Amino acid sequence: MKRVVIGGTLEASAIVLGFWRTAGIDDSQAQRLIGTAYENGIDLYDTADIYGGGEGERILGRTLAALGLRDSVMIETKCGIRPASFDFSKEYILASVDGSLERLQTDHIDILTLHRPDALVEPDEVGEAFDILKSSGKVLNFAVSNQNARQIELLKTGLHTPLLADQLQFGLGHAQMIDEGIYVNTPRDFAVDRDGGTLEYCRINGITIQCWSPLMYGFFGPTFLGDEKYKTLNERLAEIGDKYGITPAAVAFAWILRHPANMQALTGTRDPQHLKEICAAGDVTLTRSEWYYLYTAVTGERLP
Ligand SMILES: NC(=O)c1ccc[n+]([C@@H]2O[C@H](COP(=O)([O-])OP(=O)(O)OC[C@H]3O[C@@H](n4cnc5c(N)ncnc54)[C@H](OP(=O)(O)O)[C@@H]3O)[C@@H](O)[C@H]2O)c1
Repeated sequence: MKRVVIGGTLEASAIVLGFWRTAGIDDSQAQRLIGTAYENGIDLYDTADIYGGGEGERILGRTLAALGLRDSVMIETKCGIRPASFDFSKEYILASVDGSLERLQTDHIDILTLHRPDALVEPDEVGEAFDILKSSGKVLNFAVSNQNARQIELLKTGLHTPLLADQLQFGLGHAQMIDEGIYVNTPRDFAVDRDGGTLEYCRINGITIQCWSPLMYGFFGPTFLGDEKYKTLNERLAEIGDKYGITPAAVAFAWILRHPANMQALTGTRDPQHLKEICAAGDVTLTRSEWYYLYTAVTGERLP
């Protein structure tokens, strides 16, 4: 399994297991899933206070305790999304972390991530909350999610601790961060800059991009695997998969891991067999031409 040093600070597996879709699975299923993840080299587990109304954290904490794995792995959890608002207030961040620690059955969170930008953010207030959490030992590291370059710059004006990562949707079905760079200064829609160069910003500033929904297209869309709309992509994923002896899904993960930004890819599978197959991506390095061959299968266009 490929390893990544998140934000130049914290080493972890390049593939991360996410607990967004896991609410509702039973304990034995959860133990098989985490057991498989751990055996295949995954040592970072992602969740959020909001997933399943706390159930995502509960099942992760309960399963790590049952397997005796809490001290062998790292937990990333998130706060900031409330049922009807986004909330980066000091009061909410501190309360949310206390709830997460309880549900996760742990005394520390390895990475606390601000889930989605709060338009009413007060950077100094976030900084105060982070200082309290860090000095108390409740949170070891901090990150953001779904933030663009300028939002991160704004937030940093109030922080005294680095931001290690930015969690963003990215994959072959959602590659705008790449499109805008490849088609720069052309009249194509692909050239539209939707995030202020966040990929380049993260590379320049040593912030690790953690890619969510690597197999999906659209915003919270279905998977492109086996989808007729992505016929060429599916053919090419299978062709490259045959060459390396891995599944099409694993090739889609290998495509993300091939990028020199040293991104992490979050899987949300609940199927231990799928998980094992995906982990094989952590041992495969696609060639440059394979990487572009997959990319152009989606754009359907010649490169500019
Ligand atoms: N920061 C954010 O705003 C944000 C937003 C969304 C998600 N996330 C994080 O990212 C994680 C991953 O997101 P995601 O669940 O959308 O990722 P994903 O891995 O792209 O999607 C997982 C889904 O794909 C299905 N799938 C179908 N064929 C598969 C195959 N061959 N191999 C693997 N999966 C296959 C899975 O079904 P099976 O279970 O049947 O395999 C599952 O329903 C989440 O758990 C969460 O931790 C973060």
